[in-house]
Amino acid sequence: MRHKVTIVGSGNVGATAAHWIASKELADVVLIDIVEGVPQGKGLDLLEAMPIEKRDSAILGTNDYADTANSDIVVITAGIPRKPGMSRDDLLNTNHKIMNDVVGKIVHHSPNCILIIVSNPLDAMAQAAYKMSGFPRERVIGMAGVLDSARFRTFIAQELKVSVENVTAFVLGGHGDTMVPLPRYSTVAGIPITELMDQATVERIVQRTRDGGAEIVKHLKTGSAYYAPSAAATEMVEAILKDKKKILPCAAYLNGEYGIHGLFVGVPVKLGAKGIEQIIEIKLTPEEKTALDKSAAAVMELIAVINV
Ligand code: LAC
Repeated sequence: MRHKVTIVGSGNVGATAAHWIASKELADVVLIDIVEGVPQGKGLDLLEAMPIEKRDSAILGTNDYADTANSDIVVITAGIPRKPGMSRDDLLNTNHKIMNDVVGKIVHHSPNCILIIVSNPLDAMAQAAYKMSGFPRERVIGMAGVLDSARFRTFIAQELKVSVENVTAFVLGGHGDTMVPLPRYSTVAGIPITELMDQATVERIVQRTRDGGAEIVKHLKTGSAYYAPSAAATEMVEAILKDKKKILPCAAYLNGEYGIHGLFVGVPVKLGAKGIEQIIEIKLTPEEKTALDKSAAAVMELIAVINV
């Protein structure tokens, strides 16, 4: 059976997500944007790469939401990106308006889809999409932890000169400056990194992980990261479409888990065909719990501004 994935936003994150998804032949892809011509051009260009890649994914670029009908998954990347000196939170009001408009149209055409939210500020946008959609929480998932932990994994692998394949990393909390990388659950071939690096090194790469998005913005100057964010969204798409039951850190709407109520925060979840099939609660040390609560409070502040 062919799956259908819609990607809203044909900018760098959206178009690159289409690229990863098509090149892995995970689904047919609809790339939609309000800008005329860009989704059509990028979609056709990507389609014409398929014979070379030997993939049968169909890619359609469009401005018409009717083309998105009955998607299995919709990845929302629409919104303005950061410029140097801007925080993700500076995008709040503009991207909230865009989110409401997009989610309304998507839900109308794909009432049974699973939403993966990528737009920033991530946790607040996921919350806005959740409220706007009326979907159960299993079907609204924020992409952030996979990206943040991929950055953490990259820096761990670089530091220890080991294969990235050996490195797993764990990041909790919101996708912002208060995110909570957890070194004692981050391992190289099962060995906690706290056994392999001194405290100062761990702290240095934890901070680099927190600043990972800003580091890319500083280099690019005209926008934010897109290869790793779109690869992260693609891993989530694959876990769902293949019903892999994969444990990934994602933003999920918490109903009391981790002592947090009515708020999207990054936690480990099991992703399968139904979306979020389980939220995994782990015991935190008092310091880790304090850091998570601080991160949740930062998300709560944004939620209060947009009132969702
Ligand atoms: C980042 C932005 C996209 O972390 O949130 O790169």
